[in-house]
Amino acid sequence: MDRQRIVDWLREERAEKLALLWREADETRQRHVGDEVHLRGLIEISNRCCRECHYCGLRAGNRGLRRYRMAEAEIMECVAQATAYGYGTVVMQSGEDEGITAEWMAGIIRRIRRETPLAVTLSLGERADDDLAAWREAGADRYLLRFETSNEELYERIHPRRGDGCSRIEILRRLAAMGYEIGSGVMVGIPGQTYEDLARDIELFRALDLDMIGVGPFIPHPGTPLGGAVERSVAPAGQQVPADELMTYKTIALARLLCPEANIPSTTALATLNLAEGRELGLSRGANVVMPNLTPVAYRADYEIYPAKACIRETAQQCQSCLSRRIVALGRKVGTDKGGRRRAVSPAAPIL
Ligand code: 5AD
Ligand code: FES
Repeated sequence: MDRQRIVDWLREERAEKLALLWREADETRQRHVGDEVHLRGLIEISNRCCRECHYCGLRAGNRGLRRYRMAEAEIMECVAQATAYGYGTVVMQSGEDEGITAEWMAGIIRRIRRETPLAVTLSLGERADDDLAAWREAGADRYLLRFETSNEELYERIHPRRGDGCSRIEILRRLAAMGYEIGSGVMVGIPGQTYEDLARDIELFRALDLDMIGVGPFIPHPGTPLGGAVERSVAPAGQQVPADELMTYKTIALARLLCPEANIPSTTALATLNLAEGRELGLSRGANVVMPNLTPVAYRADYEIYPAKACIRETAQQCQSCLSRRIVALGRKVGTDKGGRRRAVSPAAPIL
């Protein structure tokens, strides 16, 4: 599928055409990764952040947040819950927190690998190669780092304080070379994102051979520069991608068609736009992963990347039973293994 074809699908609005896209994505998902939906227990270990990304509520300049960093013992309690609920993986996520030292994190990773059967996924932002290598050495299996947009000018505009290192795409390549499974993705409908940009993002998912692809709608946060009207809709008329549910489903479906074996979550941001059935529709249109939240309720509301996030009042137990129920109701199965990247034994089927 070439760039123009992807753009055409992103612009498609006729229900009968979209039904074809949903069906093709669902069949591709079924054929390549099966009916199991993998559960990744998400632990939001710290909301401290030294960066100033224009869209994110955790940005250093947002004074409206109570900052926290979980203690090792608290993290290990969440990890024990993940094991008890039968999850295959824990995902430890944080802002870019310099207080998370390489040694401290490596110690936790080693403990998880020693004391549990879980796979360990990290999502701790842009870190030095030495840290990433130490964590891999300690037993981390996967790393998530969204590149957010393949449009470099847009990227520069919304990420003012750069890390001293290299681009996120370069970091992803290095992570893969270290032996991590790599995950990346973008927000759908960032102000300034054009259809052409989003189509290029989807092509990049494939070029990077991503193991995991996370996409969700951009949701404006009032405590950020992109939260108000000022910086909104900077793309030329008719070019701006809307940050809505439908566009997110199209992106998930196209990601599945271009990357048939990737693990693709139905994200919390999608559930936030449609609490009743956002997750289900994501799972029916290409996704095969969900990430139940394990963060202690006392911290959940403070991990406010965007407002009105789904599940901020629910407990780990509630998210566990909610998601298992929803998966079964869809006629799918709850994954029972670690749910790592599958590799094709036969070549991919032709795509739309
Ligand atoms: N709306 C939606 N998603 C967001 N993220 C950050 N801020 C927002 C927002 N306002 C996403 C980014 C980041 C991930 C952890 O959350 O893509 O990589
Ligand atoms: Fe948290 Fe449904 S996933 S309540």
